[in-house]
Amino acid sequence: RGKRAFIAGIADDNGYGWAIAKSLAAAGAEILVGTWVPALNIFESSLRRGKFDESRVLPDGSLMEITKVYPMDAIFDGPEDVPEDIKTNKRYAGSSNWTVKELVESVKQDFGSIDILVHSLANGPEVAKPLLETSRFGYLAAISASSYSFISLLQNFVPIMNPGGATISLTYIAAERTIPGYGGGMSSAKAALESDTRVLAFEAGRKHNIRVNTISAGPLRSRAAKAIGFIDMMIEYSETNAPLLKELSAEEVGNAAAFLASPLASAITGTVLYVDNGLNAMAVST
Ligand code: NAI
Repeated sequence: RGKRAFIAGIADDNGYGWAIAKSLAAAGAEILVGTWVPALNIFESSLRRGKFDESRVLPDGSLMEITKVYPMDAIFDGPEDVPEDIKTNKRYAGSSNWTVKELVESVKQDFGSIDILVHSLANGPEVAKPLLETSRFGYLAAISASSYSFISLLQNFVPIMNPGGATISLTYIAAERTIPGYGGGMSSAKAALESDTRVLAFEAGRKHNIRVNTISAGPLRSRAAKAIGFIDMMIEYSETNAPLLKELSAEEVGNAAAFLASPLASAITGTVLYVDNGLNAMAVST
């Protein structure tokens, strides 16, 4: 049997999640997707209407198939956590079972188990504010959506993950070195995600033989990155200063994720893997 992957955090064909799904599909995996509830309708209708068909093409010419799209909101663990205004919000009321526990229960009922879990989501409501001006609310919201969401997904998926399985999240160099503009506690959230990668690698490794790694990706013009506002500058900086002077494609991150999820990486866990044209190795601009 081929492997089954659940990729959390796809809402269009521009982000890392989509590229990872494609690389996993090209390697023979079955693809399940988790899409943020407010983005679900447009994602599903665009898929149906063929808007993504061009970017669904795999190296062998076939189209990536997404077996099922699940609505999700990774800041809520169970229905008891959902506040009234969200429950009654039009965009949420049309979907059901989108808290993490309910989502995993649905996947279990539909498919029984998964082999690969990908976390490709982040959110920081105050990302445009310097850390020095970030509110407690904004900081905790960034950590909740961008870091704890991975713990929650892993916690709930582990019982239905086959031993030997692999998990991957996406991080950013701002966790380790200051990137002005990556504010609102997003740098803190990525630092937490990287540290959690090491601790969860130990815990999930010992208990369930599951590997936990994170990819520190270079800049990509995704929807989330455009919302931050400095992505063109970061791309240009990378293309001027990285050891490899080429555009970084989402596919290159997808391929690294497919490697990390495969038996080729069977001894790799607890690591931060840079997929950034080598920019992390530089200390000066050139
Ligand atoms: P993206 O916009 O394609 O993906 C982010 C996804 O998170 C979106 O689909 C959004 O709907 C989803 N999301 C937000 N809040 C959510 C919630 N509460 N529950 C469920 N889903 C939620 O953008 P991108 O950039 O591909 O982001 C994927 C990952 O890559 C993120 O972790 C990001 O921090 C990371 N990354 C991105 C870089 C870039 O330059 N684009 C660089 C390094 C890391």
